Amino acid sequence: MKQMRQVSVRLAGRENYEIEIGANALARVGDTARRSLSPHARRVAVVSNARVFKLYGAGVLRDLRAAGFAVSHWLMGDGERHKNLRTAERALAFFSESKLERTDAVVALGGGVVGDLAGFAAAVYLRGIGFLQVPTTLLAQIDASVGGKTAVNTREGKNLIGAFHQPRAVVISTATLATLPTRELTAGWCEAIKQGAVGSRPLFEQTRRFLVAEQTGEAARELERASRRADELAELIAAQCSFKAKIVSADEREDVSRTDARSRRILNFGHTTAHALEAVTRYRRFRHGEAVGYGMLVAAEISNRLGMLAASELESLRACVQLAGRLPRADDLDERAILRAIASDKKSVGGHVRWVLLERIGRARIVSGQEIPPRVVRAALRAALAGSLTDEKRG
Ligand code: NAD
Ligand code: GLY
Repeated sequence: MKQMRQVSVRLAGRENYEIEIGANALARVGDTARRSLSPHARRVAVVSNARVFKLYGAGVLRDLRAAGFAVSHWLMGDGERHKNLRTAERALAFFSESKLERTDAVVALGGGVVGDLAGFAAAVYLRGIGFLQVPTTLLAQIDASVGGKTAVNTREGKNLIGAFHQPRAVVISTATLATLPTRELTAGWCEAIKQGAVGSRPLFEQTRRFLVAEQTGEAARELERASRRADELAELIAAQCSFKAKIVSADEREDVSRTDARSRRILNFGHTTAHALEAVTRYRRFRHGEAVGYGMLVAAEISNRLGMLAASELESLRACVQLAGRLPRADDLDERAILRAIASDKKSVGGHVRWVLLERIGRARIVSGQEIPPRVVRAALRAALAGSLTDEKRG
């Protein structure tokens, strides 16, 4: 087996948990479950969806059984619209039918939708049982599976009902990304760029270098090169997880009173506009990460117009987002509708939107919407959304 990487997530007053990363990490799910769960754990319930399960389910089940667990599995519908309370209720019924006890556990095998839903159900079943994240999208591997945010959507909005419930371990197989559709990769890369942009220039540069090599088509031409790339990918994902782990350790519950440059809130960079873009297009046009791609540019344009961010830094960010892949067009959307949606952002504090802006690549600053003139937001929106990131414009 190729080299595995490990990242620890440290939690105040509780046991740390490990993130294991490697091309063949799926073959370690059983072992990891044994090590990280209670010694009394006997049953494991796997939650996935049909698409992911068909690709990776049989191997995961086999591995868990070989580690001595009684394993059952249940498949939820594929897509954001299934991440709701009704599905959570069905997951809970499945846990009961599987006779899970308090020392037993849930394994979430899939993208962020499966991870959020299964994690939420594990958080409330018997007031909380253990769960393992086995993320299979880039976005889930670098972001959603790490840090214990679990949630479901309601008619009123995304992730409005949820719980902080940390997994017992995260097992990341980078090989699963080989089957991921291009748009999902683009969405994941946007979130990866975000993590570097708000907190670490070296991470931003490492991500950018990886994307440049992808673009120049150097990837996977011969065997040795392909294996080196796989290793670079695992290293990059480990660096991304390590960054997120540090932020989570220092501010696990996203303390609303914190506005410093290391608070968990900085991970919402790009999200104020992203949520608005998703809402005005009724969640049909953008993958979430794609909307974050535009959202980061809007926030960076605002930062630049407020004299906080150098033009060269804005340009670096724009160039990097371009490397992530093509984004659906955004220049035809109703500006006033976007502004209205921004004003009702659910992450507001005391009725005011809190923008995550940039001082430079690697350093964020949280600013109240009251301090930003509306004309600056309008101009930033126009500049960022009319950018040349779309299918047509990039040919
Ligand atoms: P997703 O879970 O919908 O997965 C995207 C698509 O890829 C789905 O159709 C899925 O079936 C498919 N898929 C997954 N793995 C695959 C593979 N290896 N090969 C082929 N197809 C595969 O989307 P996502 O982007 O992973 O997650 C988005 C969700 O994550 C949102 O609900 C968002 O709110 C949530 N999220 C949570 C956190 C958190 O901290 N909890 C952070 C970011 C996002
Ligand atoms: N994805 C943002 C967070 O985990 O806080």
